[in-house]
Amino acid sequence: MKVLFVCAELYPYVKTGGLADVMAGLPAELKALGCDVRLLMPGFPALMKAARTSKLLAPLQSASLPWGPAPQWPQADLVHVKFSGKEPSAYLIKSAVMYNRPGNPYLNASGKDWEDNGVRFAALGWAAACLGQGLDPDWVPDIIHGHDWHAGLAPAYVRAFAVAGHVVPATVFTLHNLAFQGLFDGKLFPALGLPADQFKVQGLEFFGQVSFMKAALNYADHLTTVSPHYAFEILQAAQGCGLDGVLRERSGHLSGILNGVDYQVWSPATDAFLSKPYDVEQMEGKAVAKKKLQLDFGLAPRAKSMVIGVVSRLSEQKGLHLLPDVVQAMVQRGGQLALLGQGDAALEQALVDAALKYPGQVAVRIGYDEATAHRVLAGADVIAVPSAFEPCGLTQLYGLRYGTLPLVRRVGGLADTVVDCSLENLDDGLATGFVFDELSPAGFVGALRRAFALYRRPSQWRAVQRRGMSLRFDWHTASQHYQAIYQSLRPGA
Ligand code: ADP
Ligand code: GLC
Repeated sequence: MKVLFVCAELYPYVKTGGLADVMAGLPAELKALGCDVRLLMPGFPALMKAARTSKLLAPLQSASLPWGPAPQWPQADLVHVKFSGKEPSAYLIKSAVMYNRPGNPYLNASGKDWEDNGVRFAALGWAAACLGQGLDPDWVPDIIHGHDWHAGLAPAYVRAFAVAGHVVPATVFTLHNLAFQGLFDGKLFPALGLPADQFKVQGLEFFGQVSFMKAALNYADHLTTVSPHYAFEILQAAQGCGLDGVLRERSGHLSGILNGVDYQVWSPATDAFLSKPYDVEQMEGKAVAKKKLQLDFGLAPRAKSMVIGVVSRLSEQKGLHLLPDVVQAMVQRGGQLALLGQGDAALEQALVDAALKYPGQVAVRIGYDEATAHRVLAGADVIAVPSAFEPCGLTQLYGLRYGTLPLVRRVGGLADTVVDCSLENLDDGLATGFVFDELSPAGFVGALRRAFALYRRPSQWRAVQRRGMSLRFDWHTASQHYQAIYQSLRPGA
């Protein structure tokens, strides 16, 4: 079974969030099940640099298409590369004009979307469809599996070839975040080289605009998202981001498959970013990590203060706008906050102000840093993820593995993975963290109070930690679900 993953991020080379971790973890496990996975990605500088060997395949341009004029891309070539790590080999679209830009894959230096993102990511979908048509005669995918809106046009191009009578691969599309939809001015449509009749309500048109996400939702053979709870939530208006109607129509072809964790990267026993590794039987390393975190972040060196960690994009999604109103309650109870994040400028400022107000008790580091992320996850007692919505969420899963109890809101994948420390859950040995419902400071503080109460009961805290650390959310289970979907779509392959 040949599977082409179409995506825009890959840990450790290009990462803005959990998508990169998933693109690194899932293919390796699918490979272990016997799937032959290759990646297709834009030729971002970090990927071109990481490539060890590179073979030129073909230019991206094509002659006319059965349904009309072919799209005209800026100068671009498809190359096949191998990396030095465990990643599968990748097809990269090498294009100085489209991708040779520093920094974030989607945003310019002022934090705004690149103006030509429509063309940059349409080219990705087009390249996927061309590989499905034999652009690399040595490797023709049975399945094209796209991830997030960046790959959204792949199923649209594949459908166009199918309607024109070509043999095509089956298409699977995973939505990691419905809030990012790839919406562009309707004037972009003629340049995309798609059949005119796809610009309709049942196609990729969304209130006069081109929607890459909607294209995928309507044209992929099967849809998945990254947790069962989110799969249910997006069928309703509150979390459907205007696409719940489309999703309801396709709900017979929608699965919620919980993400896994790459435990080679995220395990306290082998974590190279920690000075003293630890595991469930040998927890001294966690105390060392806490001490070091307090020192690094300028927090008072108090072993008995409960440290609440945050590692996050600072966006509306993450519910961290509640934090400035919650820090007082944390500090009054003797807690400390260690936050690593970046994003929304107003939120960054509000958090920096909170740190100035409570020196030694609230520490905020604005930025993006892999090593610090690991150190916060290991050194904190609690990891807070109070999201407004959360398709899956990985940091709470990392927290569980590191004995850092997650404090989360009951949404999406957070609801699927954390069990509240209610008395009955504690009694039954099921509890792994703290869960609240209401997206408000009061809701957040309610869960915090439970965390402080448990923290004062060390043996119970230890039992909850032990349970969390023993759980496994591995990619093996998830990849079996994906493989079953591939097999149902291409039984013979
Ligand atoms: P999302 O993808 O919505 O941002 P996830 O929880 O799925 O949320 O994944 C977040 C990933 O990004 C995790 O690997 C986390 O450690 C990492 N991360 C988030 N913010 C930062 C940061 N400021 N510095 C380093 N890593 C970060
Ligand atoms: C998105 C979601 C996050 C999920 C990640 C990986 O970024 O916001 O919840 O864990 O994708 O699937």
